[in-house]
Amino acid sequence: MAPREFFARHWQKRPLVVRGAWPGLRDPATVSDLFRLAARADCEARLIVRRGERWTLQHSPLRPGSRRALPARRWTVLVQGLNHLVPAADRMMRRFAFAPYARLDDLMVSYAAPGGGVGPHVDSYDVFLLQGSGRRRWRIALGGDRALDPRAPLKVLARFRPEREWVLEPGDLLYLPPGVAHDGIALEPCFTYSIGFRAPSTRELGADFLVHLQDHLPLPDTRYADPDLAPTRAPGRIDDAFVARCARMLERVRWSRADVVEFLGRRLSEPKPHVRFAPPHRPLAAADFARAVRRRGAVLAPATGMLYRGRRVFINGESVAAPPGARGALAALADRRALRPGTSITPAGAALLYTWYRAGYLAPVPRGLEAQ
Ligand code: SIN
Ligand code: CO
Repeated sequence: MAPREFFARHWQKRPLVVRGAWPGLRDPATVSDLFRLAARADCEARLIVRRGERWTLQHSPLRPGSRRALPARRWTVLVQGLNHLVPAADRMMRRFAFAPYARLDDLMVSYAAPGGGVGPHVDSYDVFLLQGSGRRRWRIALGGDRALDPRAPLKVLARFRPEREWVLEPGDLLYLPPGVAHDGIALEPCFTYSIGFRAPSTRELGADFLVHLQDHLPLPDTRYADPDLAPTRAPGRIDDAFVARCARMLERVRWSRADVVEFLGRRLSEPKPHVRFAPPHRPLAAADFARAVRRRGAVLAPATGMLYRGRRVFINGESVAAPPGARGALAALADRRALRPGTSITPAGAALLYTWYRAGYLAPVPRGLEAQ
């Protein structure tokens, strides 16, 4: 199905199963890799085990050796943001770049032992569930009771009545719009990749915007003044003149569409809190860096968030105006997450790239990998 048709018929509307969406899919990480990552402090992971009717949930960092203590069946380990940690997972997620990066969140992987899963639940986001090796049975319900099981340490529906089901084979894809109850149970050891989207609530967006305004909105450096104040017999009362003057002062708190763009660009390009960038140990000199980029191109670090609108370019929560003549190259870098060798870039553009290189946000393509 062409992306245009998918958006018109399914996106935010109805589920879709695509058989053989990704022929020959190769899992970007092994189970051992996942347990190794889940033991790291810079990784967000969960281990969920079901014993009888009881669920247990452990958050990362998992103790090394946690895998050995697990039963043969009914557990699953989930690693969030695998795209930040494993380049092949980043490439997998970028196949979904037919949706804007402002909406795309991350790629989560789950590995489940037979019978394993996270239980029936509802997500508030769109998700593509791409089946890796092994098969998984998905059951979904568009309606039904949404009450949660109060005893479970995770959000599991107390009463789930499936309406449809599919067994997904490696390379099959299930798209679910927000609000569809779903339960995926591994029929055999299996990997599932969740390509998730983000859609902030009005409250989240509003609260964050107010914080942004507090830091970025230039307010006049004036102060309340009342040279015409007259004596009062009711000193406890807030009088009309006082309220009117304060209301006029607050009318100066105004924002424009440009402030909204600035806020969105910074917020949506901001890395997750646990992300750490690795600046180069022995950085190239600026001229050598520029030469390497010209010859071999450059790639963004997998955890780098980069967006643009007009002349504004946002990278990892920072905002800059694209230098004259560099706008096209920077937009291409944000769209493709890489600069092709030979891309012509002005000295000011190259200087900006060099700053980002020194911060660990991007790097020249390593020697020998130019063709990828
Ligand atoms: C899983 O991969 O087990 C869970 C993914 C989901 O239901 O969102
Ligand atoms: Co889900």
